[in-house]
Amino acid sequence: MHKPIKLALSFGIAMTLGLGAMSQVHAIDSVEATVDYRKGVMRAIGGNTAALAAVIVDGANEYRDNLAIHARYIVDMTKDIPALFPEGSDFGETNALPAVWENQERYAELSENTHKAAVTLLEAIEAGEQDLGPRFRELGQSCRACHDDFRQSN
Ligand code: HEC
Repeated sequence: MHKPIKLALSFGIAMTLGLGAMSQVHAIDSVEATVDYRKGVMRAIGGNTAALAAVIVDGANEYRDNLAIHARYIVDMTKDIPALFPEGSDFGETNALPAVWENQERYAELSENTHKAAVTLLEAIEAGEQDLGPRFRELGQSCRACHDDFRQSN
């Protein structure tokens, strides 16, 4: 007598579990995508920093006109580094240390330092300053300050 109800119930539970497992898979996929995205952005920041170094430090002066382009990318993409590290994106192919989520205040502060250093460098470039070395070094040091405590060194 109660069998159909039981069946319907267990079918319902199976569906719920099934859907639950599926959304779990989606969640893992989307964390992977989040990690891929932030690593892509970090690599692009790294590429732009390397390009700045080649001109400012090594003297590839024929590319001086591109300095503002490279600095601007870093300015734009460091406005909110913590947003690249949402809660729960702490597993998979990531080198981010747990400290990113445990010490969010310090993390935001170091992100802000890099952003400010990039803004200062961009302003100096736009003002046509010739000796950009010290400002570039400050930017580089600000990256390292964060990586030292928040990124696993391979
Ligand atoms: C507030 C902290 C913070 C700042 C500031 C920061 N980074 Fe990172 N960066 C990280 C973390 C954390 C990772 C590891 C990300 C991961 O593996 O998920 C990373 C990864 C990287 C990577 C490796 C990406 C990959 O494919 O594995 C490069 C390159 C990089 N950063 C360059 C820079 C440069 C250049 C700057 C400065 C202009 C900078 N970062 C500033 C936290 C920071």
